[in-house]
Amino acid sequence: LTQPGTMPMSSMSKEALIGTATLGVVFTVGVWIGKKYFHPHTLSSLLKSHKMKNDPLMNYVLDHSLREHSVLKKLRLCTLGHPKCEMMVACEHAQLMGNLARLINAKKVLEIGVYTGYNALNMALILPDDGKVIACDINEDYISIGKPFWKEAGVDHKIELRIKPAIQTLEELLTAGEAETFDFAFIDADKVNMDEYYERSLRLLRRGGVMAIDNVLWGGKVLNPDKNDLDTQSIHRLNEKIVQDTRVIVSMLTIADGVTLAIKI
Ligand SMILES: C[S@@+](CC[C@H](N)C(=O)[O-])C[C@H]1O[C@@H](n2cnc3c(N)ncnc32)[C@H](O)[C@@H]1O
Repeated sequence: LTQPGTMPMSSMSKEALIGTATLGVVFTVGVWIGKKYFHPHTLSSLLKSHKMKNDPLMNYVLDHSLREHSVLKKLRLCTLGHPKCEMMVACEHAQLMGNLARLINAKKVLEIGVYTGYNALNMALILPDDGKVIACDINEDYISIGKPFWKEAGVDHKIELRIKPAIQTLEELLTAGEAETFDFAFIDADKVNMDEYYERSLRLLRRGGVMAIDNVLWGGKVLNPDKNDLDTQSIHRLNEKIVQDTRVIVSMLTIADGVTLAIKI
């Protein structure tokens, strides 16, 4: 039975048949190359760093350390199908933050820049049942991709969304008297406002609270910041400030796109 509007094979031209067969071969070879050369764990990191090549050592690291919750993995794989997937946090970076949050018995976490909520879910899975992730973003469409996974993991009640510019949310938290009450803050939104996020998060963190700042190497651009590139300028200025900042102890890690850990003294 031929569906209305489709052409029986027998009536297709020779050129159309050859074209269809060629497309089929190209597709099959593409799938084979994808499976052979792209390890599912590293795909997000590779995309993030725009290095579309296999990295056996990175695969080894992930094979010997990544312990990803099954729903987190589902969310990561789902997000990889999104056109902006390079924004997703690297899984090994998220795991490190989760481990640090566990170490300090975190209950209250700030997520500045949520996207599909990989790290929001990662943190919610670690927090106690009465713990909270205050999740700041301006884009509800991205978040709606992640929400069903938060629910599936049974931790959606721990994620409190604030859909508005993050500076406004941080100001509201300060006005509400929540200074010194957060255990962990992750700065991962727009880059021009990084210092605004840093200063406000520092006030919101308790002593001994941990701040993680993503993309501090910005693909290496910080080595030679172009004066017209406002993102790189902003990241570089903050890097120069933090290394001198006596309010925190600091480590800059070369994980993913560079992560600074600043712990409030
Ligand atoms: C790199 S992504 C965040 C990735 C996320 N942390 C994760 O776990 O995958 C950056 C996010 O920041 C959000 N964003 C950009 N400007 C913002 C602003 N002014 N206030 C709040 N969120 C903002 C974007 O909508 C985007 O979802």
